[in-house]
Amino acid sequence: MTSLRILMITAEYAPLAKTGGLADMVAGLSAQLAACGHDVRVVMPRYRGLERTADTEAALKLGTHAGSGSSPVALDGTHPPFDLLCGSTDTGPTIYQVDAPAFFSGSTIYGGGDAEALRFALLSHAALKLCQLLGWAPHIVHCHDWHASLAPLLLNAHQLHEPLFRDANSVLTIHNIGYQGVFPAALADKLGLADPAPLLTTGKSEVASVNFLRAGIAAADALTTVSPTHASEVLTPEYGKGLDGLLRQRRNRLVGILNGVDYTRWDPASDHRLPRNYSAGDIAGKLVCRSELRKRSGLAAAGHVPVLGMVSRLAAQKGIELVLDALPPFLRSGACQAVVLGEGDPPYAEALQQLAVELPGQFAFIPAHSETIARLIFAGSDAFLVPSLYEPCGLTQMYALRYGSVPIVRDTGGLHDTVSHFEPHAGTGTGSVFRDADTGGLSWAISEVLGWYQQASAWQRLRHNGMTADFSWAHQTPHYLTLYRRLAGIAAQAS
Ligand code: ADP
Ligand code: GLC
Repeated sequence: MTSLRILMITAEYAPLAKTGGLADMVAGLSAQLAACGHDVRVVMPRYRGLERTADTEAALKLGTHAGSGSSPVALDGTHPPFDLLCGSTDTGPTIYQVDAPAFFSGSTIYGGGDAEALRFALLSHAALKLCQLLGWAPHIVHCHDWHASLAPLLLNAHQLHEPLFRDANSVLTIHNIGYQGVFPAALADKLGLADPAPLLTTGKSEVASVNFLRAGIAAADALTTVSPTHASEVLTPEYGKGLDGLLRQRRNRLVGILNGVDYTRWDPASDHRLPRNYSAGDIAGKLVCRSELRKRSGLAAAGHVPVLGMVSRLAAQKGIELVLDALPPFLRSGACQAVVLGEGDPPYAEALQQLAVELPGQFAFIPAHSETIARLIFAGSDAFLVPSLYEPCGLTQMYALRYGSVPIVRDTGGLHDTVSHFEPHAGTGTGSVFRDADTGGLSWAISEVLGWYQQASAWQRLRHNGMTADFSWAHQTPHYLTLYRRLAGIAAQAS
């Protein structure tokens, strides 16, 4: 087998730095590629201000100093230094952290504002610099989201004179087209590019601005998004967020590859954060998890009343408004209880908090980012809400399936590709799927679930279907390997 040299460039990597699915996806794919024998090196920022936990300490052992440089990105007229720290993970890939205190000292991963452009421009520069310092020639430079979208441009420029990169190919994965890295045009000259023109938008009706993702899409050798259905969606004006025209031009470079789940980390039978473990074959522990969830979130002790869960960034994308409209009648009638864990847009947080005040014991809102509570919700809930307006892939519905919580999803993107509507007579399907992004659609999907819940054997079948579905990275990684090998001109092989 020819082992591939793969450079991953990312803003997030679980559990070291995570706000959402990007972190899980890059960590899961990288681990599986490394397990297949490939040389995977991940470059990410060293976020000095992030809280360290036992998990993050265990996940990365920082060791050697791999080199240093001075930032090609200008900050207040200077070019501050950065170091590259090398560490090993318990899952295989080697991690390099860009340690640049002038850029990455905040207490959060994303800081907003114009500084964000400078920070993530440095990430791409530092990643390619690392290859030069190591004399390491990647076959594939795999860039994730807008934060790494400068790398394909830099790689193309380097290839004109740097033999190390002669055979390298760039892949840009669009995890979320709703976040493009758009900044004032005046920043273009500060980002360390010999020719900043490709970074600037040129549309006649638009005020010129820097758009990282657009530039990356134009420059990358291959483009992926995180589910087959979403790969078709982004070609349409409804989902393309202004980039659909460019994506249609480059559609022969675009492929949709469904995300996977790292079942060594997401398994109710071994998850050390749960009060009691369980599996599809021995479900008793799930009731213990539900009691604990009720206790921890302040829901009333109740007998045969299902608990609906939701773990989500509080952003318009996630259909929070639909939840706020559709859920209260079910809660008021006592047909179900619900708990939402999430952080994000303050108006959503306030509305959810208000609902919790109105319906104590029936509805709980936990405004936090907590891996432990998230997992307790997957395990302790009976059904799980993912009513997204758009969803490139979505991981929470896959975690819910694994943990035996029946997903209630809108028929879009990766939700379409991972959940099918339950047919009680045939015994097929894994969740409740609604089409229209309106209150009626979600209400219907919730009432379907509440109806099935009353039929013990149908419910067991439905839950079992979900728990035994396989969305592992072992299934999905070969699709990336096929793409990588095609780009690298290496014939397809067994693993
Ligand atoms: P997105 O990346 O769009 O946020 P995904 O479904 O792909 O959506 O991934 C979300 C990830 O973030 C999941 O692992 C989910 O459990 C996690 N998550 C979201 N909000 C929270 C939170 N408040 N606390 C803990 N984990 C969260
Ligand atoms: C994005 C998307 C989500 C996807 C995740 C990981 O944040 O919103 O659908 O699962 O990236 O690819």
